[in-house]
Amino acid sequence: HHTRVAVLLGSFREGSLNRRIAEHLRDNAPEGVVVDVVPGLTEVPFYNEEIDGPEAPASAVALREAVAQADRVLAVTPEYNGTMPAVLNNAIDWLSRPYGQGAIVGKPFAAIGATPTPYGGKWSHEHARHSATIAGAVVVEDIVVDEPAVDGDPLEDEAAVRRFLGALDALVAHQVEVAA
Ligand code: FNR
Repeated sequence: HHTRVAVLLGSFREGSLNRRIAEHLRDNAPEGVVVDVVPGLTEVPFYNEEIDGPEAPASAVALREAVAQADRVLAVTPEYNGTMPAVLNNAIDWLSRPYGQGAIVGKPFAAIGATPTPYGGKWSHEHARHSATIAGAVVVEDIVVDEPAVDGDPLEDEAAVRRFLGALDALVAHQVEVAA
């Protein structure tokens, strides 16, 4: 059985550092681990309780299915104005509903990424962890990679690449505690 990791990507520009990091993890995942970068997050409308329910938009249903089928959820994201980009926040909102039964409930979750500042997006990652906790995910708090990509391409930095792959390994290795 493979461990499936759904990546929620917080940037959609062509040259995104975080997209490249996510794709690197996908292309270099360890044996037995399948990393899927969830497509179509920009197609999902802003969360609105009036459009949720049996008639929820197909884009939101697809997002929920992608995460429901995954064993782990990994946000790979930059920071916008001291928090996570709205597209990621919106995805977490859809994944949090129906209340208590959202696709993210009970899934081991981590938030990592890079920004070209000395802080590496730490608030974004902290806020994503906080929001995912409230949404019912099992946040693996000790997985922290806030990569300051101030010296250029983090994928050119072997130590940074090891940190990203290490985060993936730790998320996969995390055991969900089952109540006796
Ligand atoms: C940013 N950026 C940024 N960086 C950061 O570390 N903290 C921040 O609060 C912000 N705020 C912010 C707001 C907005 C609207 C933009 C467009 C950018 C810079 C950001 O980290 C940088 O552009 C990254 O390269 C974006 O990530 P991708 O697209 O390379 O993955």
